[in-house]
Amino acid sequence: MGLRGRDVLSVDDLSAEEVREVLGLARHLKRERRAGLAHPALGGKSVALLFEKPSLRTRVTFEVGVRELGGYAVYLAPQDVQLGVRETAADVARNLGRWVDGLVARVYRHDTLREMVDASPVPVVNALSDREHPCQALADLLTLEEKLGGFQGRRVAWVGDGNNVCHSFLLAAAKVGLSVHVATPPGYSPDAAVIEAARQAAARSGAAVQVGTDPRAAVAGAHAVYTDVWTSMGQESEREQRASRFRPYQVNAALLALADPAAVVLHCLPAHRGEEITDDVLDGPQSVVLDQAENRLHVQKALLALVL
Ligand code: CP
Ligand code: NVA
Repeated sequence: MGLRGRDVLSVDDLSAEEVREVLGLARHLKRERRAGLAHPALGGKSVALLFEKPSLRTRVTFEVGVRELGGYAVYLAPQDVQLGVRETAADVARNLGRWVDGLVARVYRHDTLREMVDASPVPVVNALSDREHPCQALADLLTLEEKLGGFQGRRVAWVGDGNNVCHSFLLAAAKVGLSVHVATPPGYSPDAAVIEAARQAAARSGAAVQVGTDPRAAVAGAHAVYTDVWTSMGQESEREQRASRFRPYQVNAALLALADPAAVVLHCLPAHRGEEITDDVLDGPQSVVLDQAENRLHVQKALLALVL
């Protein structure tokens, strides 16, 4: 298998075919789970879950997912390891690699993941960094495939911050032929290298990638509207400044009314209710945020089954 033994720090570590392979296995595992069938692909294997930041979804879905695949997960909380304080990220990875078969890590600096990869004898999977959140993007694609019936000819509006979740989503969507129109406040656009990589993938898949500052233009006629918090973990000191700059980018009923009437609403969660998204939209009939959250479990099981 092509993915066996590979590190997944970015969506760009996966080819378009490999993204589709993960989604296909995730669909299969989801059906099997609903039918009560076990799939012990990780029988006897252990995975360390190393977190520098808080988490609900990522932690629980990896822990439950490893368990459901017949493996064993060891959760290490921020205060346990203190990467770079108690010992270097490389030393942590070297040690863990003697005991477990894979590392799943949530870190502040994406470079910390690179340091771990260089030192680790076992595969490393990014569970969120300041640059990317690839597991989230895989769950987003599975959700959109289920809700929209496919990717070709569909367009998603990303409204808000050009952040880690935006980066991974752009790269993932472009690979599978799903168009994205990003609208961020000036100065909060996705990283230029990510936009360029997404445009190259889009040229191959037939998708379009637009990046601008007008939320209404992005949402007009869109088949899905995706937002995330304005202040990500680690940016707390910028919270007030961001709140005022991002105010025109709130996903509310008036903005959503511009989208396709059947459009779905995405949010990776946790949400800051009343900031980037209103309660009526987050809890409304177009919201698929809990399907996204559920699908984290299925795509991560698929990814681990292929990588480990
Ligand atoms: N979406 C997501 O990664 O949620 P957590 O921060 O709760 O893991
Ligand atoms: N962009 C958010 C996503 C949380 C899952 C953050 O990094 O805090």
